[in-house]
Amino acid sequence: MYILGIESSCDDCSIAVVRDGREVLSQATASSVDEHKKFGGVVPEVASRQHVEAISAVCKKAVTDANIKYSDLSAIAVTAAPGLIGSLLCGLSFAKGLAYALKIPLIPVHHLRSHIAANYIATPDLSPPFMAFVVSGGHSHIIEVSDFTEFSVVGRAIDDAAGEAFDKVARVLGFPYPGGVALDKIYPEGNPEAFVFPNPKTERPFDFSFSGLKTAVINTVHNLEQKGGEIPTKDIASSFCHKICSILSDKAVAATLHYKKDRLVLAGGVSANSLLRAMLLEKCAENDIELFLPPISLCTDNGAMVAAQGYFELLGNSRGPLSQNAFANMDITDKFI
Ligand code: KG4
Ligand code: ZN
Repeated sequence: MYILGIESSCDDCSIAVVRDGREVLSQATASSVDEHKKFGGVVPEVASRQHVEAISAVCKKAVTDANIKYSDLSAIAVTAAPGLIGSLLCGLSFAKGLAYALKIPLIPVHHLRSHIAANYIATPDLSPPFMAFVVSGGHSHIIEVSDFTEFSVVGRAIDDAAGEAFDKVARVLGFPYPGGVALDKIYPEGNPEAFVFPNPKTERPFDFSFSGLKTAVINTVHNLEQKGGEIPTKDIASSFCHKICSILSDKAVAATLHYKKDRLVLAGGVSANSLLRAMLLEKCAENDIELFLPPISLCTDNGAMVAAQGYFELLGNSRGPLSQNAFANMDITDKFI
């Protein structure tokens, strides 16, 4: 079964054709990241306009590269929540038009479910149950995955998500957007023990709170600026990376053990981070947990993961009407109506 997957929840316009939820036949992506760099972060209106301009050509390329005809497609899967509402509506409206014209099902897909599904492509024999750790620009969730469409959130960010903290710290240190990528590169050049940043406590053991950590880094930079000395950018960056990756990896492993799972699946943009991957590899090995790491190309937003999850949603009989709406916020456990 060929499914077309459309991802447009943020600044990437990405469309892919995936066979049976596991095999990527093609993927085309247009990113507006360079436009946003000028502003130090994603500008929603700019992102929406770029999606409108790019989406037809991106879709044509995906279908052509897959070497199939539109009539070979069985369904159109599209990210319908959560994300930037203007961006989501561009992808969803396009998907509806295509599904209507081809007379095939429209499958609205939750963005975090798609991130997890990137692992079904990377590891074709992977099936739930397992523990998933989704760390992206907008979310840091530890999720018990009991089936392809059954989820239970056991921990989440109560303020800034991990990616948001990376991006904001990077901005104050003068790195370009997206800051997580820049901090990842600079990490080995600094001393991770030069600064001791706080490890914010949360009421629930597997929740995350990064706003205090982010503020501590920002205050350190401002204090040093006021004293007029040189800012040890690399040391601050490394110390921050070390702290946030330690917190993320410790909690993900602790939750996996607490919920008696022996497999942990990593997902989301921040899962591209080298230090986080290295820490998780080490801690999972120490605790006899099998760790699944998606390749870097499947960590950040992409159409293939949407098509993959769309396949499993279709098997679970989930379909969207042509009146389907998009939602800026939605829990991973909720169903589309
Ligand atoms: O999943 P994603 O592409 O979009 C959302 O769903 O939010 O994640 C984007 C986030 C950004 O905050 C970006 O800085 C972060 O992922 N990111 C990274 C790395 N690559 C992307 N953070 C740390 N290290 C990286 N290598
Ligand atoms: Zn994402």
